[in-house]
Amino acid sequence: MSDLVVRHIEFDVDQAPFIWNPDNPSFSVLMNQITFFVVGFEKYMCRVMRDAEARITDPAVMEEAINFRKQEAIHAQKHMRHARALIGQYPALQGVLDKVLESYEDVYQSHPLEYHLAYAGGLEAIFTPFFKMILDHRSALFAQGDAQVASLFVWHFCEEIEHRSSAYDVYNHVVGSHWYRIRHTGGFQKHTRDLFDMIKQEFEALVTDVPSAAYADNPFGRIPIWAQLKSALGVLASQFPWHDSVNQPLPAYYAEWLGHWQSGADVSRIIGRSQTPVPSD
Ligand SMILES: [Fe+2]
Ligand SMILES: [Fe+2]
Repeated sequence: MSDLVVRHIEFDVDQAPFIWNPDNPSFSVLMNQITFFVVGFEKYMCRVMRDAEARITDPAVMEEAINFRKQEAIHAQKHMRHARALIGQYPALQGVLDKVLESYEDVYQSHPLEYHLAYAGGLEAIFTPFFKMILDHRSALFAQGDAQVASLFVWHFCEEIEHRSSAYDVYNHVVGSHWYRIRHTGGFQKHTRDLFDMIKQEFEALVTDVPSAAYADNPFGRIPIWAQLKSALGVLASQFPWHDSVNQPLPAYYAEWLGHWQSGADVSRIIGRSQTPVPSD
């Protein structure tokens, strides 16, 4: 039985500034890149999972695939709200979102389901070591940022940890060939890298009223080098044929966040600084 939980949490990010963490502008930009990327990626993922359902014969895999798709659909919605807030301030950013969506439409139209499932499984496997590094160092990265934006990312990254093996399981059930996936790893990694680069270049051209450090600094400059290297090695290892997507080192914060959510805490402001209300006269 699938243990994925489909959560509906409101994150009020409508007034989020572009540099939502003034203490760490380059990390703010990286997370904004993720928002613009994720809207396209998660929509693509949902489409692919829906297509895969016709080829799933195991009820347990089916249940996992459906819950996984529901989680991803909510991620796309919440990041769309964040993207809309940024587009509201910089209307030309609509063109960036359109480019991401068009690019995923092209990928969807140009390849078979096997490729899409390999893309999904491969990229989702990368997320665990990458988001572990971010969650392990959340204080340095999020604590001084806008609480709703910071909490949106923390929630999303925890759910990525939660469903870390779902896309992989669907791939293994429907396609099954490690070599097919590995043969295409370079292709889908290039696609995501190119999109991330494009988004950043467009931000740089269109959002100019930010500190120059926003585009120049290493977003992880405050994280120890050893942790960055460990994450990079984990990302590399996640693509090996013998990769075990379930039994990965997990960030301790994942269990902590789940505990907060289960206790009914307001996880929409679980980290970061709440905006001080402007006094009315
Ligand atoms: Fe997601
Ligand atoms: Fe995911």
